Amino acid sequence: MSVKIYIPGDSGALAVGADKVAIRMAEAIAARDLDVEIVRNGSRGLYWLEPMIEVETARGRVAYGPVRPSDVDGLLSSGLLEGSDHPLCLGTTADIPYLKRQTRLTFARCGITDPLSLDDYRSHGGLAGLINAVAMTPAAIVQEVTDSGLRGRGGAGFPTGIKWKTVLETGATQKYIVCNADEGDSGTFADRMIMEGDPFVLIEGMAIAGIAVGASKGYVYTRSEYPHAIRMMTRAIEIARKNNILGPSVLGSGHSFDMEVREGAGAYVCGEETALLESLEGRRGVVRAKPPLPAHKGFLGRPTVVNNVISLASVPIIMDKGADHYRDFGMGRSRGTIPVQIAGNVKHGGLFEAAFGMTLGDLVDDIGGGTASGRPVKAVQVGGPLGAYFPREMFDTPFDYEAFTAKGGLIGHAGIVVFDDTADMLKQARFAFEFCAIESCGKCTPCRIGSTRGVEVIDRIAAGIEPEKQKDLVADLCNTMKFGSLCALGGFTPYPVMSALTHFPDDFKPRQLAEAAE
Ligand SMILES: Cc1cc2nc3c(=O)[nH]c(=O)nc-3n(C[C@H](O)[C@H](O)[C@H](O)COP(=O)(O)O)c2cc1C
Ligand code: SF4
Repeated sequence: MSVKIYIPGDSGALAVGADKVAIRMAEAIAARDLDVEIVRNGSRGLYWLEPMIEVETARGRVAYGPVRPSDVDGLLSSGLLEGSDHPLCLGTTADIPYLKRQTRLTFARCGITDPLSLDDYRSHGGLAGLINAVAMTPAAIVQEVTDSGLRGRGGAGFPTGIKWKTVLETGATQKYIVCNADEGDSGTFADRMIMEGDPFVLIEGMAIAGIAVGASKGYVYTRSEYPHAIRMMTRAIEIARKNNILGPSVLGSGHSFDMEVREGAGAYVCGEETALLESLEGRRGVVRAKPPLPAHKGFLGRPTVVNNVISLASVPIIMDKGADHYRDFGMGRSRGTIPVQIAGNVKHGGLFEAAFGMTLGDLVDDIGGGTASGRPVKAVQVGGPLGAYFPREMFDTPFDYEAFTAKGGLIGHAGIVVFDDTADMLKQARFAFEFCAIESCGKCTPCRIGSTRGVEVIDRIAAGIEPEKQKDLVADLCNTMKFGSLCALGGFTPYPVMSALTHFPDDFKPRQLAEAAE
């Protein structure tokens, strides 16, 4: 039997040379006439070790990384195929502490299987949730998802089961499932990892959602910056269609469900669900006023479930193992697991899936290993560009929706971006306003005008023009944006601005204007 070597085909691994390693490996194997099969798996999410290759041995998979093409011959000569020791050897993959400490429910297969092998998917527990779902009534599926406590992982944390129930109870004959794969938050890559590393789990989740609410068509809306994910999803959909997982009778159940991938042109606001629907319908991504909710009047005016990739990809495990199993993980009203994406100036950047409840400090210092620069951590921005900056004094905050809200922050899509003590928080506050000004859809005044005024006011603070008065003006402006904006782009920009101003007052001292705008 041939030995299997796994070399990730994930974008994060490709960016640091995984394709070159795979080519070199194939050449070296051919030259040595070895019986080896190279599998292009997804990433395990330990990005500082990519390209991380693994070899299947009698004692499990053994990992090596980061591997460069020039390492390949040496690895083979020192017994790679037997999982022998080598300076790049990381030991058995399952025992790497970063992985061993995780609870992988949604990402259970990511990095383990061949992403486009349906056999691999099935033999690692895939399709068990869909098989259960087709034997249930739509109302029972919705109840199971509700009982699991799953909340939307796209940002707002809205209970998924309640959203599905609203769509199920509408009388329309045509309904839609729209998967929000726009993933615009800074430091986030969980959606991409799933689409590239385990696309069938998203297809399975969407098919279950379709059957649950009576929708026969689904769309995955993703960004043009994700060409690899688009290719993988498109190929996986074709395979699923050929194998009756999608089509007029899903797994022979009589339920019809099919789906396709749609590519956005690239605008942060197109991740907002109503702007996304506008874009999906072929128009400019402008936010729609709510009501009506997309659940009542969504894509093409029909009832539509809009859910994030991770929300939908978490459904198969719930339908497989049951609501109680999923609900058992977590704390308070934050149930199940959350794939935290650790990024920025951090030593061990990657994806860490764990039950809700870990503290921010655990994630940054212990799991993330502190800064990559080796300097002290100054701040962590949690929840994307609209999330608050947390100083070290708040690192005891547990990863829990309510706990973050209580501290003036948000979990968002669970991306955390680490900054060391060289970060200038006035510049970060200015950047938040500037980002909002650039990305604003322009529909409402507090966001469209307020963000530009915000940049000007921060510049006046930097220039030392009546700084105390300007700080009051920032607070006033933020208040107007928070309560007067139509959507969270304008409404949440005050979080990074005010948290920077509140927690890092020393940074808001006068300096050269050019320096603030740098
Ligand atoms: C400006 C803005 C950008 C957003 N970007 C995304 C995104 O990239 N992905 C996402 O899933 N949700 C995003 N959201 C949240 C969506 O509007 C919506 O709440 C989400 O897709 C619902 O799915 P969920 O309930 O599964 O989280 C964004 C919201 C705003 C206001
Ligand atoms: S807050 Fe900004 S992005 Fe949202 S609707 Fe208003 S102008 Fe558009």
